[in-house]
Amino acid sequence: MKTFVLTALFMAIAGLSGCDTSSQGFSLPQGNVEQGEQVFLKYQCLRCHTMPGYEAEAEKLSGALQTPLQLGGQVSRIRTYPELVTSVMNPSHRLAQGYDGADVQVDGQSVMPNFNDVMTVTELVNLVYFLEEHYEIEPYPRTEYVSPH
Ligand code: HEC
Repeated sequence: MKTFVLTALFMAIAGLSGCDTSSQGFSLPQGNVEQGEQVFLKYQCLRCHTMPGYEAEAEKLSGALQTPLQLGGQVSRIRTYPELVTSVMNPSHRLAQGYDGADVQVDGQSVMPNFNDVMTVTELVNLVYFLEEHYEIEPYPRTEYVSPH
């Protein structure tokens, strides 16, 4: 069931990243930055990535890549919200180009683990919300969600 929900989300987002960005759009609900940070640490994203401000946390983990990939900031190729969400949910969707480390892709698939079967939707929402703070992505229309409270 969880996989189904994520697949549906992914298809909605993949559709949005096509040419027609003038259509209604879709975004995840607003998350919580602190909880998103916890998700980021829980799934050990820093085994393969660096992020400004998280150097100490990264040092505690044994790195899985010879040259970790920086997340966030302007070095990134991520410019839009769909690109950001897609890169978390389907890392092989767009593989890093011109990256020297041979340990990044194996048989055309990203070595980045697919978290879709382990991460809850709430974790994904918070993680993406946290990551957004670190990227400079183009403004986009947020989907309105009715608060359950
Ligand atoms: C085992 C290594 C590994 C782990 C662990 C990992 N990633 Fe990645 N990630 C990669 C690689 C490699 C790429 C580049 C895509 C490619 O070419 O395969 C990538 C790309 C990305 C990108 C796009 C980067 C950009 O700015 O262009 C994001 C965002 C990302 N990862 C987020 C995460 C998050 C969030 C986690 C933890 C939940 C995570 N990654 C865990 C290896 C990893």
